[in-house]
Amino acid sequence: MKKIPLIIDCDPGVDDSYALALANSSELLDLIAITPVEGNVSSDLTRRNVLGLCDLLNIDCRVGFGAEKPLFNPWYRNAAGVHGSTGVGTVEFGEIKKQPDPQPAWEVIYEEAVRHSGELVLMAVGPLTNIATCLRLHPDLPKHLKRFIIMGGGTFGNVTNTSKTAEFNIWVDPLAASEVFSQLEVWMVGLNATHAAAVEMTDFDEMVAICGDAPGAYVLRELSAFSKKNCMENGHDNNVIHDALAVASLIDPEVVGFDHHYVYVEHSGDAPNFGQTVIDFDGTSGKAPNCHVAMRVDQPRFVRMLKDMCRWYAEK
Ligand code: RIB
Ligand code: CA
Repeated sequence: MKKIPLIIDCDPGVDDSYALALANSSELLDLIAITPVEGNVSSDLTRRNVLGLCDLLNIDCRVGFGAEKPLFNPWYRNAAGVHGSTGVGTVEFGEIKKQPDPQPAWEVIYEEAVRHSGELVLMAVGPLTNIATCLRLHPDLPKHLKRFIIMGGGTFGNVTNTSKTAEFNIWVDPLAASEVFSQLEVWMVGLNATHAAAVEMTDFDEMVAICGDAPGAYVLRELSAFSKKNCMENGHDNNVIHDALAVASLIDPEVVGFDHHYVYVEHSGDAPNFGQTVIDFDGTSGKAPNCHVAMRVDQPRFVRMLKDMCRWYAEK
């Protein structure tokens, strides 16, 4: 069966790293490009992490470097507290061999969208700065995409210092998110879904055991041990492997259930709900639905997929 061509725009990030590993291990997906953006950590680290993960996970694809800062967010701060100072927990890369593409993220995305017109799935699991930039330069991008999926937004927030209702990826660049939601049909895997698919501590223990000392599973062993330890020590939602659920929703439609609603992003800087994905559940806006909102998950099915992924790398 023909594989689905996939580009992942991301800000690794521990959960972004799981997402890249899951996509790379799926027989249904052809990961043709990864485009790092600023987000969890600064762009120099997200760029380095993508190149290093390509080496250690044996991912052969284009890497187009993206934005170094949001289109607009004077309050931006990183999430190193959740992901560790490097952004990828305790994973160490040593000398990185992978080289970036000469083209920037937005040109890699557009080139591949045209090359795979009508078949490409574009997935964004970080702030939407690169996607908005691509749309500003290439307004015909939507007609080339088969599907656009994000990990972001949702029915509640996780950014506490300036907005109680914003999810981090949207909050980092709400202007970009607003422009993206107004031009693309979005499949939104938000916090309500990712938290419902939270991974239990015992599941992390089993994932570490499956990885064992296999060299191919080094990244996943480190990520899983870090996620469990960080979550137990700091109470972060680190047992929520947010970004991997977005990939899982593409691999297996049974894992995530979506409902169709109109959604807009609040991007005015002085709004109390700055960065919120405002979901019109009852149609009061009178506007046509533009977003498939993840509302149901099969958590055991998702966790089985993560363990199978660990097994795949351990046996390589
Ligand atoms: O709010 C969770 C999202 O923000 C995830 O994508 C995580 O990696 C961070 O980017
Ligand atoms: Ca992310």
